[in-house]
Amino acid sequence: CGIVGYVGSKKAAPIIVEGLRKLEYRGYDSAGIAIHDGNGIEIVRALGKLARLSELLEKRTLEGTTGIGHTRWATHGRPSEVNAHPHSSGVVALVHNGIIENYVALRQELEKEGVKFSSDTDTEVMAHLVHRELTRGAKPLFKAVQRALGHVHGAYAIAVASREEPDVVVVARYGSPLVLGVCEGESLCGSDIPALLAHTRDMIFLEDGDVAELRATGIRIETVTGEEVQRKVRRIDWSPVMAERGGYKHFMLKEIHEQPDVVEATLRGRVDLVNGDVHATEIGVSPELAREIRRVYITACGTSHHAGIAGRYWIEQLARVPTVVELASEVRYRDPIFYPDDLVIAISQSGETADTIAALKAAKAQGAKVLALCNVVDSAIPRASDGALYTHAGPEIGVASTKCFTTQLAALLMLAVYLGRRRGTLDEGRARETLQALWEIPNQMRDVLGDADYVHAIAKKMTHAKDVLFLGRGLGFPIALEGALKLKEISYAHAEGYAAGEMKHGPIALIDETLPVVVICPRDAHFDKTVSNLEEVRAREGQVIAIATKGDEQILEKSQYQVWLPKVRDEVLPLLTVLPLQLIAYYVAHLKGNDVDQPRNLAKTVTVE
Ligand code: G6P
Repeated sequence: CGIVGYVGSKKAAPIIVEGLRKLEYRGYDSAGIAIHDGNGIEIVRALGKLARLSELLEKRTLEGTTGIGHTRWATHGRPSEVNAHPHSSGVVALVHNGIIENYVALRQELEKEGVKFSSDTDTEVMAHLVHRELTRGAKPLFKAVQRALGHVHGAYAIAVASREEPDVVVVARYGSPLVLGVCEGESLCGSDIPALLAHTRDMIFLEDGDVAELRATGIRIETVTGEEVQRKVRRIDWSPVMAERGGYKHFMLKEIHEQPDVVEATLRGRVDLVNGDVHATEIGVSPELAREIRRVYITACGTSHHAGIAGRYWIEQLARVPTVVELASEVRYRDPIFYPDDLVIAISQSGETADTIAALKAAKAQGAKVLALCNVVDSAIPRASDGALYTHAGPEIGVASTKCFTTQLAALLMLAVYLGRRRGTLDEGRARETLQALWEIPNQMRDVLGDADYVHAIAKKMTHAKDVLFLGRGLGFPIALEGALKLKEISYAHAEGYAAGEMKHGPIALIDETLPVVVICPRDAHFDKTVSNLEEVRAREGQVIAIATKGDEQILEKSQYQVWLPKVRDEVLPLLTVLPLQLIAYYVAHLKGNDVDQPRNLAKTVTVE
């Protein structure tokens, strides 16, 4: 979900709606706003995307200069107008992101006291709790919110307005993100930086347990228990335009084409080509720790998990540390075993994924060291970790992750080299060659992306496919998984990524002349084996789309369609092989007329377990 709040002298409604628009990637099944016009609070809510709310607002005149707004991704209670935020109780209107774990007990308690509920959400409980505190005499609103939060277990970011206090918005966070915007004569809050960038670059990142009072004249922060705290104002150098679409039809396409630049940004200042090494600063792992660890344990969700699989290959190969990769949603409930000499790497674009946070907490509880590999600076995962390695990809708006994936790959390969050098498993020569190859990747990415028209033609042939199989070996395997995930996410076709060698144990049964099979078969160490799998597909008349090395006659002969890549070192291949797969998914989805940036049922940041 996304939250925006405003207090100042301008009309609040358009500012809030504009901010929400930048947060729509966080969820978009309903939206709503509450505006205080000096006399009372007006609430407008709509089922569906924000555009629906905007339509409703066009018919209204909301003059107030204080307000809160919300765009929802349903957790408790299906998407509907009654379940849309803001929720209200007496003089209180409230928006919330997160999950209140004890809401059933709280609801029963409130119902016993005679409170009538009008929605199925966990959020409404909080509106009633705040109202109850006000009626019990806890005033002002700031204090009532602090008291109410004392009853709540779970994760939240909230923004609250009260009819009795026209010039105040009270916000709080615990476990869900919330950023405050500091401006002359106005204060703002939002779930994420892009919501505020049009107004300010000076931002405060609230910490867990903070409650803040926003007024036009400034911001005051205390803990839930009432101790005054100071939080640093940070200057954010992302320009508002950077967060916009930059001339592309969709954010996803823009982000695909940004990859050469952002991968460069991830490497810059870190790679030392002269000494064949990676600078220790900014890697998030001290040289001592790099030497001491006996196991690497990678945990993540979705696309970040796929980056983790590639990370495992690199870390085992270059640093010779046994490495496991585990889906974060499985870690917590499996009673996992961690050791004090484990390095746990939590990979997350957003740094807010609830499952990944839970996994890293389980690891920390058993004394393991945690490194966050994240894109969003100062988000929950890096804050809860011992060190952070940031990808520097800038804001990613398209729900289907692209540039964050390739920057994660670049960061993991750098990390593997760093570990290998510290542990003496990687000599300077090989390290230098690997880093040199990585350094050249952005330019090679530009070349591959320059061939996008050709990929478009291939995607056209795949538009009507109901199933697509992706095959790869070694470092091609996580890319096969990622290619299939991309296609599923936005084109709604059924797609499966498989280890090429595993095909004979199942998916081979699916192959006939209607099945497109994307085979990742560059000239790497696994080439011969992968080609024999390709032959097996051909023998069953599958349609082979080969992702191969330029000039490969054998592949030209054996496949129907080809995307050619430059010859590069094996280690850096995934940074190139994934590009045509991202483009295929994008074009197929676009040709089908799907909403590429906001695919159905998905959210960019999943803050529920
Ligand atoms: C959601 C997004 C995916 C992402 C996953 C993990 O499902 O739609 O694109 O890979 O969450 O997110 P994270 O921010 O932790 O990388």
